[in-house]
Amino acid sequence: MCCGCFSCLPAKLYYRSVLSSHGTIIMRKTLTALLLVTVLPAAHADDDYTHELYELYCQACHGAAVSGAPRSFSRDWQPWLKKGLPQMVENAIRGTGNMPAMGTCNECGPQELEDLIRYMSREQ
Ligand code: HEC
Repeated sequence: MCCGCFSCLPAKLYYRSVLSSHGTIIMRKTLTALLLVTVLPAAHADDDYTHELYELYCQACHGAAVSGAPRSFSRDWQPWLKKGLPQMVENAIRGTGNMPAMGTCNECGPQELEDLIRYMSREQ
């Protein structure tokens, strides 16, 4: 056991510094994990499946702004974005004006539509 004399002081200091640097590594790992968790859902709308669905079903009208469709990746979406995403998803499901229900995407559910809308309403 340590007697508190000078001979064991360096060992104590060494032990303490190892412990604290170990603590920072754990902290860093936790932070990285937290960052990943917060970044991943945002990246969701950019996945390949969303790209594919967009090209299959939405691009025909939204890519060329056919019959009043807000043009993809442009400022056209500003007035729609003001309504908020949930409202847009609902309108896309039901169809509105010249926009067909589900945007003709039969394989889409509300989550896919939401991803598609996030994707094409963003300026690029
Ligand atoms: C046949 C052409 C056509 C296709 C295909 C199409 N859209 Fe549209 N979309 C439109 C038109 C036209 C509007 C404008 C409707 C209006 O406000 O009169 C529109 C509007 C929208 C809106 C805004 C709805 C609102 O008023 O809140 C969303 C969101 C949308 N489309 C999503 C999609 C998605 C997602 C797809 C692909 C799955 C898609 N659209 C495919 C023609 C199309």
